[in-house]
Amino acid sequence: MDNRPIGVFDSGLGGLTAVRALRRLLPSEDLIYFGDTSRVPYGGRSRETILKYARQDMRFLRSFDLKAILIACGTVSTTSLPTLQRENDLPMVGVVEPTCRRAVDMTANKKVGLIATLASVRSGVYEKTIAALDPEIQVYAKACPLFVPLVENGRFQPGDPVIEIVAREYLEEMRSTDMDTLILGCTHYPLLTDIIGRIMGPEVTLISAGEESAYELKRTLKAQELLADPSRSGDAAYYVSDRVEDFEKIAAWFLQEDLHHEANQIDIDRY
Ligand code: DGL
Repeated sequence: MDNRPIGVFDSGLGGLTAVRALRRLLPSEDLIYFGDTSRVPYGGRSRETILKYARQDMRFLRSFDLKAILIACGTVSTTSLPTLQRENDLPMVGVVEPTCRRAVDMTANKKVGLIATLASVRSGVYEKTIAALDPEIQVYAKACPLFVPLVENGRFQPGDPVIEIVAREYLEEMRSTDMDTLILGCTHYPLLTDIIGRIMGPEVTLISAGEESAYELKRTLKAQELLADPSRSGDAAYYVSDRVEDFEKIAAWFLQEDLHHEANQIDIDRY
């Protein structure tokens, strides 16, 4: 048993979709969340810049005595996970493996779509991971760079004309592929589930990277006997690198509950 907290980070708010799942799956665990809101989005940047940012995010989180880290960011997972794992001696889970495993389990016609950030699509890591699991599966990948800034700005409600138009344009070509499973490969995208689901139709199963990574973390903690005392009630602390007011307003949407505590602003350049 280990009651130390779990660190979770993302470029911004997206990782909160994983936090929401973690709060449900692991209610006894303490969580420390960092959202790099002053530098979001990461998705259009180079691998070098993303790795530099991810190392700073890790250094900040490791200023706490953590038992594990969840990289609740598709972009960091696809570009930097092996390097971060080499550099850090604690259990670390990313979003790609668990999400691909679920997609491979779910697809009946072996046609899987992937929507993610530019950096994630460019990396080809989702395709490689799926090919290793089942080489017969065809993957249709599409970068959706406008989704993250729209979600970060609260423009994710069904009926919002801007997000509706952008989503239709991105997903149009996906619709003609006959896929039966679509990976939401960026942790911001589950906020768009209703919009994406309506465009793709009920026959397409949507897979949330945030949620799958939370399941994977639970399995990892269990296997390594690192779960917290089940009789305790877990808490969550939130840190961001820009204005807390903006974060708190939208974070409640992601979590589908109040933050309970105020978020704290930190200077990520110090790490
Ligand atoms: N939530 C991040 C991801 O999963 C967003 C990336 C970004 O900042 O562009 O990829």
